[in-house]
Amino acid sequence: MFLKSQHLLGIRDLPSETISIILKTAVEFRKALESGIKKNPKLNGKTVINAFFEPSTRTRSSFEVAAKKLGADSINFNASTSSISKGESLKDTGLTLQAMRPDVLVLRHPHSGAPAYLSRYCNKTHIINGGDGINEHPTQALLDAMTILDHKKSLTGILVAIVGDIAHSRVARSNVLLLRKMGATVRVCGPPTLIPDGFEMIYGAKVTFNLPKALKDADVVMMLRTQWERQNEVYFPSIREYSRLFGLTEKKMKIAKKNAIVMHPGPINRGVEFDPQMADGHYSVILDQVSNGVALRMALLSLILGKEEGIKGS
Ligand code: CP
Repeated sequence: MFLKSQHLLGIRDLPSETISIILKTAVEFRKALESGIKKNPKLNGKTVINAFFEPSTRTRSSFEVAAKKLGADSINFNASTSSISKGESLKDTGLTLQAMRPDVLVLRHPHSGAPAYLSRYCNKTHIINGGDGINEHPTQALLDAMTILDHKKSLTGILVAIVGDIAHSRVARSNVLLLRKMGATVRVCGPPTLIPDGFEMIYGAKVTFNLPKALKDADVVMMLRTQWERQNEVYFPSIREYSRLFGLTEKKMKIAKKNAIVMHPGPINRGVEFDPQMADGHYSVILDQVSNGVALRMALLSLILGKEEGIKGS
């Protein structure tokens, strides 16, 4: 088995060697896609169910595209039109989906720990965490690392600034875990109300509430969306003030290294976390992150299902 565990629940469980293999394999898949090989039937006969209990554009679509490019059947389970609305529990829904014998179940859920909980009952399929509450979003961190490596020689020794709503961000947590495992230094920045107490001690990322300090000499600037859907309090006085203090502008970007890149996991809110044109600037790699998401998820599905060989297609 490629992973030590049957499931991919978070970056926390992945050794750095495994991360390196996934990233290397993803680059091979991307090369094959770029060379015109549109499909690779290595996962013919396999089934991937995308069970998303929260909205998603990037993660769900790219898992679907990745599975289909590998010849697998990909089924999208829509929570809002499912029997969840009739009171079925997550456990019973998971057991029901497992009974259809999918090879992989990609789970996105608003509650932190939902994939880990379901993994206690579902031992006949591989669960991949597609983002759980504020806990982890491992495939996002992996595709982010792949994108960084398109621009930087190594993750070791680079300085990454993650800016925004750290408190409610599973992307921030998975990225800090991955980047630190791979030898990067990480700074997190946002309003004090949006950075949990003890974050520095628990995750080893340096905390600052001052954007220019966070940006100083950064190789990578990762902006985050304010996650209104997870907030049940008012965390800052106004969007205007947030944007003035923590929004990225061309001028502030000059504080980072000259060849620094700007990332964002999406969805982006132009005019809030950055000036509207920042997402399209020459330093922006936001759409490359999306493209890499397909190759990365192809690599992951292929490795997990034991078909990593022969990725050149036939
Ligand atoms: N980055 C990300 O998880 O985007 P979606 O919510 O669109 O999947």
